[in-house]
Amino acid sequence: MNDRPQTKRHNNSPEMWDSYYAAEEGQKGWFDRMIHWGREVYFSKLFAKRIAELGGPATSYLEVGVGSAQTIVRLQQMTGAKCTGIEKTPRAYELGKAHATACEIVLGDAMAMPFPDASFDVVYSLGLLEHFEPDEQARILREHARCARNAVVLELPPDTPHMRLILWVNSCFFGRTGVWADEELFSARHTREKYPGLPFRFRSDWPALGLGCWIVMKPEDILRHVPLI
Ligand SMILES: C[S@@+](CC[C@H](N)C(=O)[O-])C[C@H]1O[C@@H](n2cnc3c(N)ncnc32)[C@H](O)[C@@H]1O
Repeated sequence: MNDRPQTKRHNNSPEMWDSYYAAEEGQKGWFDRMIHWGREVYFSKLFAKRIAELGGPATSYLEVGVGSAQTIVRLQQMTGAKCTGIEKTPRAYELGKAHATACEIVLGDAMAMPFPDASFDVVYSLGLLEHFEPDEQARILREHARCARNAVVLELPPDTPHMRLILWVNSCFFGRTGVWADEELFSARHTREKYPGLPFRFRSDWPALGLGCWIVMKPEDILRHVPLI
């Protein structure tokens, strides 16, 4: 099933992300506008529920790559917890700050986060890791773990036929690169092969139309089984 070449480079450029969020401001890109709309009206609520469920009891959350903060707003309303987000793209950071007034939104890099060790109960990211190369992924995953006390929760694109079709149409038919085009796809098997020995819980998500899956890990397990490359 997983014969897609995983070494394919990913476009994770500031320009790509800036244009993705320009669409949220209604400036361009019907596909991106549809994604932002779907996030706003449906997925953000579902994802907030999943994080609260999968992360376990928590009084503080950190979202890495928070974007325009649609999910963290719901999570804060749902749990009343202290919620913090970190984001690298200035346009997304501005959107997030304006949107998530009850949360702390920080402009910064997931590779080297300005937070002390173990400063949040749960550290999570939604649609982040799949945009990076293996050495960067190891660094980002270890930074999630370094800042977490109880759990690290990742939402990732699953290796399903319809997800492959969407990416193929976008990349091969429309010549698109970056988000919704050259992501790495995940399954429980792929995660086992990628991080041998790392204990994790894998969960598909059909209410998310099979467009998202979840991996839950303990911070100490990540630091033991995911070495820097
Ligand atoms: C697919 S978006 C997801 C945004 C948000 N989590 C959501 O669910 O809508 C990935 C986000 O990661 C941000 N990002 C990419 N590289 C980053 C880095 N090195 N540090 C922090 N954020 C980064 C991008 O700007 C983008 O906002």
